[in-house]
Amino acid sequence: MSTSSSQSSPRALPEGGTLIGRVKVPGDKSISHRSLLFGAIAEGTTTIDGLLPAEDPLSTAACLRSMGVTISPIQDGEIVTVEGVGLDGLQEPTDILNCGNSGTTMRLMLGLLAGRDGRHFILDGDDSLRQRPMRRVGQPLATMGAMVRGRDGGNLAPLAVQGQQLRGTVVGTPVASAQVKSAILLASLTADGPTTVIEPAQSRDHSERMLKAFGADLQVGGEMGRHISVRPGGILRGQNVVVPGDISSAAFWLVAGALIPGSDLVIENVGLNPTRTGILEVLEQMGAKIEVLNPRDVAGEPVGDLHVCHGPLQPFSFGEEVMPRLVDEVPILSVAACFCDGDSHISGASELRVKETDRLAVMARQLTAMGASIEEHDDGMTIHGGRPLKGAELDSETDHRVAMSLAVASMLARGDSSLHRSDAAAVSYPSFWTDLGRLRR
Ligand code: S3P
Repeated sequence: MSTSSSQSSPRALPEGGTLIGRVKVPGDKSISHRSLLFGAIAEGTTTIDGLLPAEDPLSTAACLRSMGVTISPIQDGEIVTVEGVGLDGLQEPTDILNCGNSGTTMRLMLGLLAGRDGRHFILDGDDSLRQRPMRRVGQPLATMGAMVRGRDGGNLAPLAVQGQQLRGTVVGTPVASAQVKSAILLASLTADGPTTVIEPAQSRDHSERMLKAFGADLQVGGEMGRHISVRPGGILRGQNVVVPGDISSAAFWLVAGALIPGSDLVIENVGLNPTRTGILEVLEQMGAKIEVLNPRDVAGEPVGDLHVCHGPLQPFSFGEEVMPRLVDEVPILSVAACFCDGDSHISGASELRVKETDRLAVMARQLTAMGASIEEHDDGMTIHGGRPLKGAELDSETDHRVAMSLAVASMLARGDSSLHRSDAAAVSYPSFWTDLGRLRR
């Protein structure tokens, strides 16, 4: 299961080619996790149309199944059903809950399980997840009375959770993280009184939208939606969820389509929630030709088709303000910067250092191997763009978004490349390599 142990031979990434055609990216990863989790603790059946059939949501489903939740098989193109067990119906599992490579699974599970009074849980994951900081969730949950224990003073998995009756309170989160916020929202559903979570900046709001749709008593207020209050006691009811395509997966095609001469792509059914569209803001700043076609609302989330074609691009500069809206797109934007004449600046991105890998270090290392000129900073990078890249022996270093970003870079390099641990893409986009083969001319 763990991509970090994947040993398959390197994938050949030939230089050149253009990308032409239509592509439907798989379901949004964040919305997929949430639909499984909220469906599990609702009363009645939830159906999920468009659930992402990738390793990360499969980890969430496996954890829920081992606590007694019936979930139909997760297969591409199939509607998934979740038989909810109600807010207090999760059983104590007999084995550890394996979250695989998925930070979202582990962090949201912490919030969900902290309030299961009298039950005991152990959460673990692969080598990458065992190095990722969990205190950012455990600490705010502790102010509600949660008991989470683990290595490094409760910061690192494996983590033990002893379920408690939690106290409703006001909780400030240390970082603008939707994973942390969502963990607290899940915990507040069974607290003994109202809880308000206050974020330093607004992070993606899929949990707020979906919890409301499931019937939770939840209010969003404060400047830019940074204060979210939940009153416990409401009953969640199973819903029919439609998952839009993931803009973080669409990002690879958006950048590739804009960069690669002759390209012309339509990416269908992409989620355009404004807390996720920072990539479009930066591409606009670069002068990319992107059109939103057929904008619509699907099950409480804005959706559209995106048309992109190649054109001249300028370097960009962005920082902390936009970071929550494009945190997962920094690797592919670092590729884009290499192919624009002039310096691009990324700052306020220290969160990248605690993702599936240290994405600032890994992207700098891999792109430098291709001949890029990059200065890495504590919280970002400066990319001196416009130098031709050359084909190289590359490595995803087990990170799905790095694998897909390097695939785009390799098309524009002079000379062929190879990519070790390319299967990492399956964490969020299992059909990426097939889609690339199909679109490439
Ligand atoms: C996610 C939130 C983001 C993102 C991750 C998915 C989520 O992490 O990087 O891929 O589903 O809530 P943070 O909330 O830690 O920024």
